[in-house]
Amino acid sequence: MISQSVVKKDHVEKMSGQASYIADYRYPDMLYAKLVRSEKAHARIVSIERPKLPDGYGIVDADDVPKNGIKVIKAEQPVFAKGETRFIGEAILMIVGPEKEQVERLAKQVKVTYEDLPAVLSLEESITSCVKYEFEHGEVTEQFAKAATVYEEVFHTGYQEQAYIEPQGAIGLYEKDKVTMIGSLQCPYYVKSAIEYALEEAPDNVQVIQSTTGGAFGGKEDYPSLLGCLVAVAAKKFKKPVRIIFDRREDIAVTTKRHPAKFVYKVALNENNEILAMDIDARLDGGAYEGLSSVVLQRSLLALTGVYKIPAIRVIGQVMETNTVPNGAFRGFGAPQSFFAIELLMTHLAKNAGMAALDYKKKYMVRQGDKTLTKGEFRYPILLPEMIEEAEKLSHYSEKEAFYRNQKGRYKKGIGMSIFLHGCGFTGSAEKDHIKSVLKMVRYEDGTVEILASNTDMGQGLKTTFAKIAAEVLEIPLEQIRIVNPDTDRVPNSGPTVASRSIMVVGKLIERAAKKLKKDYKKGVYQEVVEHYVHTEMIPWDINTFSGDAYPTYSWGINVVETEVDTLTGQSKLLGVWGIFDVGTAIDETIMKGQMEGGMLQGLGYGSCEKMENVGGVIKQASMTDYIIPTAKDTIPFVTKLIDNPYEGGPFGAKGAGELTIIGAAPAYAEAIECAMGQRVSSIPVTPEKILDLI
Ligand code: MTE
Ligand code: MOS
Repeated sequence: MISQSVVKKDHVEKMSGQASYIADYRYPDMLYAKLVRSEKAHARIVSIERPKLPDGYGIVDADDVPKNGIKVIKAEQPVFAKGETRFIGEAILMIVGPEKEQVERLAKQVKVTYEDLPAVLSLEESITSCVKYEFEHGEVTEQFAKAATVYEEVFHTGYQEQAYIEPQGAIGLYEKDKVTMIGSLQCPYYVKSAIEYALEEAPDNVQVIQSTTGGAFGGKEDYPSLLGCLVAVAAKKFKKPVRIIFDRREDIAVTTKRHPAKFVYKVALNENNEILAMDIDARLDGGAYEGLSSVVLQRSLLALTGVYKIPAIRVIGQVMETNTVPNGAFRGFGAPQSFFAIELLMTHLAKNAGMAALDYKKKYMVRQGDKTLTKGEFRYPILLPEMIEEAEKLSHYSEKEAFYRNQKGRYKKGIGMSIFLHGCGFTGSAEKDHIKSVLKMVRYEDGTVEILASNTDMGQGLKTTFAKIAAEVLEIPLEQIRIVNPDTDRVPNSGPTVASRSIMVVGKLIERAAKKLKKDYKKGVYQEVVEHYVHTEMIPWDINTFSGDAYPTYSWGINVVETEVDTLTGQSKLLGVWGIFDVGTAIDETIMKGQMEGGMLQGLGYGSCEKMENVGGVIKQASMTDYIIPTAKDTIPFVTKLIDNPYEGGPFGAKGAGELTIIGAAPAYAEAIECAMGQRVSSIPVTPEKILDLI
């Protein structure tokens, strides 16, 4: 019953225009802020010439920040560059004042003199890494010595911009020794701790409130911490509300994106073309500061063998330093890059063996009880065979794939299939060691129940799914459940809204809290329940050796994409898109359909048209005209199907769902192009230009 869809909790406020996005907040004496940014990829700042400021205008820079670092994992990135800049777009100082246009004019009058330093401008050029992991499981050297052949292939994936509807923005307030940040964000407590760090403020003096957030996709996981520090410092300095909102061009140019990646796979094969071992070199372009790159790389490395059991693997994974805009979290967190590589690699190995890709992949597909690539265990049922059968039934993939092999003429059809998983929740022991979620649930005298969590709704429907879990357990109408945008003064730290963890981890706490509340129910009395995260023991995760259970469980997916390529223009047209997903139990079918369709379309954009280049440290496609994301006109109706596979650790059997849906579309699309063109693809996006190159 829980899966049956309802009207979303925030439906009326959003559809009526009443929801307050950050640009809707107004204060009578509010100041606007504009950043002056580095024009150099790597340089020493020799001097800064400041314009004469009219009354009421001011400047904020590094000297105003007590501890000039943005706390993400480390705090290596300064709030304002001081002495040296490491990428084009890095903040040097900020002009603040009552008139927006005047602030912008003044910002343009600031003259910075630089002395160039050597700059590294691409992943290929970079020879220094800021993060490095190495691990080996199985007898790799022995297997390579025994190999009949060694197959080697290099894969490249490009940038991807989150392209959320609402650009980044925040407002800082200062009143009675307390700073408050209101902003478009995913993780209120991340921002709070970053502000406490930079301003050296006590926890009681820092408050963070989420404004209704127009999409995030990982792009508002760490970046709002920087914005939070900027507006908090300025609000405290001028004792007035200070607002900063990026325009689209600024947002694309300077905020975090999906890491471009390069993978070199060496595969040892026996005389029957069976895989003996893999030796993989994986590199992500971190940009100028590390930020979240280490955890993105971890997830990327854990996806290097996809859904396949490989007898022996050796991996070197690195985040490379470049003097470009820092990269960060984006739906899938490093996994979409790896899944593109492994899916295409398996297809190419199949072709070498003269086999159909799916038949080859099936031979290696993991089963329940198998070891993971890090010697963890797949404990729960894996329904991939049933899901493949379903995909075949809906799309006729295998039949079409065989049929499309020998086509003549201008228009050529192709079909591709990808098989993928997503580890649910944080990697390793972060949940137990660092996050330690706390959730509060209150029943008021009138019977209304409020969920108090720090998790945020950014379009993925969290307010509704959280409320449904509580309502279902309490057996009360959904209207009786209250859930509002989190405010750190009111909600405990139930952790960030990342890693598709909210439903599985925090939803479980809601389920438990609701059960308690129901058991102890006293009519007309105020009641409060606090729940803490409880860890289920797994094989302990060791980051140094990359061994143990990286995740408690996994969600699974199959994507099939069918296209038709015009070999004269290189344009390709979607003919069919199918997605079969196992997310345990869907807490709401319509919300899940939104995730499936949205995720797959975002993945198709990544694989086909979302081309972004960094030339000389500058993002060339810094507008929605130049950076092409798929629109309603580029798409067709998708066929989606959910497979029920309840997981005992999640509320009502739910697992992680939000990121899984982006992972498989790019490899399935690339395989469809390969199938149509009869040639191999080893990089994305596969733009029309790239298709013409294939011809
Ligand atoms: N769906 C919408 N509509 N908007 C978003 O910003 N972010 C994605 C995914 N789905 C996103 C989205 C990302 S990156 C994550 S981690 C999950 O939602 C987070 O939500 P959850 O923890 O509630 O699963
Ligand atoms: Mo999602 S990339 O974990 O915010």
